[in-house]
Amino acid sequence: MSIDGAMKAVIPAAGLGTRFLPATKVIPKEMVPILDKPAIQYVVEEAIKEGIEDILIITSRWKHSIVDHFDRSLELEYYLKEKDKDEHFHQVMDIGNMARIHYIRQKVPRGLGDALLHAKDYVGDEPFTVLLPDDIIVSDRPAIGQLMDVHRSTGGPVVALEHVPKDRISRYGVASAKRTGERTHRILDVVEKPPAEEAPSDLALIGRYVLPCEIFEAFEDIEPGYGGEIQLSDAIRYLLDDMDFTGYEFEGKRYDVGNVPGWLEANVEMALHNGQYSDIARDLIVRLHADL
Ligand code: G1P
Repeated sequence: MSIDGAMKAVIPAAGLGTRFLPATKVIPKEMVPILDKPAIQYVVEEAIKEGIEDILIITSRWKHSIVDHFDRSLELEYYLKEKDKDEHFHQVMDIGNMARIHYIRQKVPRGLGDALLHAKDYVGDEPFTVLLPDDIIVSDRPAIGQLMDVHRSTGGPVVALEHVPKDRISRYGVASAKRTGERTHRILDVVEKPPAEEAPSDLALIGRYVLPCEIFEAFEDIEPGYGGEIQLSDAIRYLLDDMDFTGYEFEGKRYDVGNVPGWLEANVEMALHNGQYSDIARDLIVRLHADL
C-alpha cells in the first residue's frame, strides 16, 4: 500500500471484559449497546467512514455473536420485509453488507500485543490501523482519519493521545513526549499502566493507532510486561530506537465504554445529541434533576 492507498484495520475484540461483569459473562463487552448499537459497530463505522473496507476482528472463543452481528440475517430480513418495516429492514441489511470483515481467534488471553500478533499474515508488510472498541470517539472527522492524515504527512506511525487526570492515568499506556505542533508530539517513551506517581506525563495513549508492520517482530521479541501480558505499549517502546512515532491529540470526545461509568456517560451524552432520543433524554434529565 502506498501512503495514499486504502489501509487495513484491525479491531482487537478478544478481551474478557472483566470491568463490565456480570453483563459480560455471556455477552461480549464489544456487543454491549450504546443507545441502539453495539459498541463494536461504532468503530467499524468509524473505519468505513475513512474509506477502510477491509477489517480484521480478533475475537475469542465465546464471541460468535460479533460474527453473527456483521453477517446477514435472512430470517429477520424476510420478516421485516413482509411486515413493511422498511427502516429496520435497511438497517439490518446495511450491517450485513458493511465491509469485508475477517475474523481470527486469539486462543489464550495473553494481552493486546499477542492479540494483534494474530493480524500479522493479514496485514503483510504495510502500515495498518488499529481501533480499540472500548474507546468510542465522537468527532466531526473520525479519529482514525485524523491519525491517517498525520501518517500521510509524516509517513510514520501515529498514536492517539489525550490528557487524562492523574487519578485515572494508571489505567493507560502513558507517553513521555516532546510537543512538536499544536496537536502533535514526538513520542520519547511509553509505559503501560504506570502508578500515577511514576507516570511520565498526563498524556495517555487512546485506542487509535497507525502502526508499522515492524510491530509484529517487536511483539515476538519482547517479554511479557504489565499483567504478565504482551503489551502494545512495550512493542512501541521497543521500536522507538529505530523509528519516530508521532503522538496526536485528536479532536473529539472519547468515552471508555469498557466500564460502567464510561458506558453510562456515553449513553447519556450521545442520547442528548441523537435526533431520535434527545428530547426524551433532556426531559428525563430535567425531571430527575428536579427530584434530586
Ligand atoms: C489498552 C492499552 C493501553 C491504552 C488503552 C486505551 O489498555 O493497553 O496502552 O492506553 O487501551 O484505551 P486496556 O484498556 O485494554 O486495558
